Amino acid sequence: MKNIEETQIPYNKPHVTGNEKSYVLEAINHQYIAGGYGQFSKKCMSFFNDHYGFENCLLTHSCSGALEIAATLCDLSEADEVIIPSFAYVTTAASFDKTNAKLVFADSQINHPNICPESIRNLITKKTKVLVIVHYAGVACLMDEIMRIVEEFQLILIEDCAHAVDAYYKGKALGSFGHFSTFSFHETKNIHCGEGGLLVVNDQSKLRNALQIWQEGTNKSDFESGLKSKYEWVSTGSSYQPSELSTAFLYGQLLELDHIQNQRKELWSYYYEQLSTLASESDLFQLPGHETGHNAHIFYLKCLNIGNRNALIQHMKTNKIMAIFHYLPLHISPYQRGKSNDIPKLINTTNWSDQIIRLPLYIDLTRDLQDRIISVIHDFFQNQGAALQISKSV
Ligand SMILES: Cc1ncc(COP(=O)(O)O)c(C=O)c1O
Repeated sequence: MKNIEETQIPYNKPHVTGNEKSYVLEAINHQYIAGGYGQFSKKCMSFFNDHYGFENCLLTHSCSGALEIAATLCDLSEADEVIIPSFAYVTTAASFDKTNAKLVFADSQINHPNICPESIRNLITKKTKVLVIVHYAGVACLMDEIMRIVEEFQLILIEDCAHAVDAYYKGKALGSFGHFSTFSFHETKNIHCGEGGLLVVNDQSKLRNALQIWQEGTNKSDFESGLKSKYEWVSTGSSYQPSELSTAFLYGQLLELDHIQNQRKELWSYYYEQLSTLASESDLFQLPGHETGHNAHIFYLKCLNIGNRNALIQHMKTNKIMAIFHYLPLHISPYQRGKSNDIPKLINTTNWSDQIIRLPLYIDLTRDLQDRIISVIHDFFQNQGAALQISKSV
């Protein structure tokens, strides 16, 4: 094993392209830094529409904010059911919990943390109105099967694309399948502005509603376009818009999108290549599945069990490398257990949650640092392989 340097390798370092400062300054000098339709917000929204063929884009302060608007647009009541992956972020589900509809949790695929189409089918009832999917790690869900289900049962599809900027399924951008889709620009994401998000409204019939919810429950857009002489409270809504300071920063990132994505893909592929021999020689861990493509958002390994995964995290920590796991299954969260005694068994979800480990992946990760991480992983599996094999067979 190579010498261990003293510096801690973090899980993430928010990348700054160098464009951001001048755009933020330009926004300040322009003396318009609120949300809505400032020059940078407009440029960012056009960028997404033009690049990915989205119908309508509304920038938000977070993906969670965009999910809340999407949930509101579904017009849900207590009589409705929403199918959601249990392997998801808290706000993927919490946004829909606010509607009072019943949340029904689906399992992951056996080969990928993404939602399993068969599990969705098994959960559909007459009350199912909405299907929420998450493209985990920027890897597309099985969209052919999912779109068949959506059409067969006339469901509203929400794509939670928090991880999935610039990711595709068979050449079609993720975020363009759902009636509504949501993106995150949190600092951990490929493209970021510290905190930020995007709501994509592909269902044109809901655009007016979406605008009202986005604009604090008012008809401000009619007022701004001269259709009304004043704007009033016309629907439910809240303050969801990011300021121009955030969108100026985001625009700086968007202009470097190709460079960012190429760099991340290079890092991702290097991990994959360097760990593939070790993975094929032992069955102690698996490399990430990416059959439907990926955008190099996350590089994860799937360990044999929770004990091995936690031991690997600890081994990396001892070697000054921060690796993390995520998510915890939502269906057995304290909040859900407090709401219902009827807890389903979602084996794949639980396994993914127990076994996944996410490795550092950020643009400033040098080849030397990446080699150090790979070497520490080799050391763990080679030196502890025998012990792990024994614990596996017990
Ligand atoms: C799948 C998913 N949805 C939603 C979110 C929330 O994103 P934000 O922090 O932009 O609200 C996250 C956060 O990482 C996420 O992983």
